[in-house]
Amino acid sequence: MEFISQNPANLQETIAKSPAATEDQIVAALDRAKVAQRKWAAVPAPARGRVIANVGRLVEKNKESLSKLVTKEMGKVYKEALGEVQEVIDTCDFFLGEGRRLYGQTVPSEMNNKNLFTFRMPVGNVLVITAGNFPAAVPSWYIVPALLAGNSVVWKPSEFTPAVANALTSLFHAGGVPKDLLITVVADGATTFDAMEKGLAKGLINKVGFTGSTEVGRRIGAKTGEYIQSACLELGGKNPMVVMPDANLDLVLDGALFAGFGTAGQRCTSLGTLWLHESIHNTFLEKYSITVSEAKIGDPFQDVLYGPMINEKYLSNHLKHLDMVQAHHKISGSTATGRITKSSPRKNFVGDPDVGVFAHPTIVSGIKEEDELYRTETFGPLVTVGKFKTLDEAIALSNGHGYGLSSAIYTNDPQNVWRFREGISAGMVSINNSTSGAEAHLPFGGNGRSGNGSRQSGIWVLDQFTRWQSMNWDWSNKLQKAQMDTVELEHNPDFIL
Ligand code: UN1
Repeated sequence: MEFISQNPANLQETIAKSPAATEDQIVAALDRAKVAQRKWAAVPAPARGRVIANVGRLVEKNKESLSKLVTKEMGKVYKEALGEVQEVIDTCDFFLGEGRRLYGQTVPSEMNNKNLFTFRMPVGNVLVITAGNFPAAVPSWYIVPALLAGNSVVWKPSEFTPAVANALTSLFHAGGVPKDLLITVVADGATTFDAMEKGLAKGLINKVGFTGSTEVGRRIGAKTGEYIQSACLELGGKNPMVVMPDANLDLVLDGALFAGFGTAGQRCTSLGTLWLHESIHNTFLEKYSITVSEAKIGDPFQDVLYGPMINEKYLSNHLKHLDMVQAHHKISGSTATGRITKSSPRKNFVGDPDVGVFAHPTIVSGIKEEDELYRTETFGPLVTVGKFKTLDEAIALSNGHGYGLSSAIYTNDPQNVWRFREGISAGMVSINNSTSGAEAHLPFGGNGRSGNGSRQSGIWVLDQFTRWQSMNWDWSNKLQKAQMDTVELEHNPDFIL
């Protein structure tokens, strides 16, 4: 069997044919990586950092060709693809220096002639499973820190973006990462899951990093839990954007356009529900609907709001979400809903819709807490809109579905900002900014249905790929017992002024 990836903007164009890895091949890859890890862990961390520096420079040198491949295979607009590849470079830039830090601590002891220390130890072999929407940046968030910290990686990219995966892997190898230390296997989800289970049973996997749906994340979390492991899970979102009456509405318009429809809504950080204060609801909804209706959509190499969806599977999911629209909802944002074709055309379409996988943008207003759409991550060009009276109500609506990845509030009142930050259950909060577009060196991750509390990026991800080892060194030449042979200084407990 092989996976054939096509250009979603022009299905006639085949981008890559990749043989599908079998369960045995994945387990064999885990075996090889596990062996390679031992040697790699013995390489001094600063030298590992130099390898990450090489990778970053190579990605920078190949930025345009890799970005073009991202746009061709995955369909995001070229400017966003350049941003995605920049995120890989930023991640390398951050972690190349970490090779000279990877700090542990010296800790005072209760006793004399004794010293305490902590060290970061690599976890071992990491299985990374990623989605197709960020075929380069999100994998690098796992691979770069994992390698820097002395681990090996077997990477299962999305079967829809094997060309980007292979290109990125070859850049890592060219930068000096040993071939068996990073092995990329293209496989379907079911085969990967079975191989993961085997690998866990054989002790070949010490950490799983997964970016994808909440449903699959739950299964991976449960399976790794059976083996006394905790996976790094980056799952779905239904990200709220709350607009207070004092907000700068021009700013909200830009933010809601990008967050809702950038990447055709296929970011885990994409806008879920736009919560509008009742006093500005009607006027803003009208403005938003007109702006979305007039936006250019189509060829991702042109200046458009968004290009095609990743492939047919994502489009058919989007169509399922359209079936959740109810009689009390109002639809706006385009001339039609569903697939854009010559017979279901879109004003301002750039290119030929019939050759690709394009979808009309859809705004569904009148959303209520009891609606299926209120609690469903739509992962497509669909934004739900609702109304609220008070900030407390907006916070309750923002948290009520149990997702907690990204969130945003638009307001000029600091009181609202702090109350929102304190009340929102999301792992990430934007103030007067889009829900999507996080910078690559702040903790990234969510709570509840969005993740198990693990965080990627910056120094925080090191806790995923290292384990703390503590050491005590008693050089007193006698047994000093903790909590018992400690120094007690005299004091007067009855003293009163
Ligand atoms: C994702 O969709 O899985 O914050 C990650 C953002 C991007 C990453 C999204 N930097 O929107």
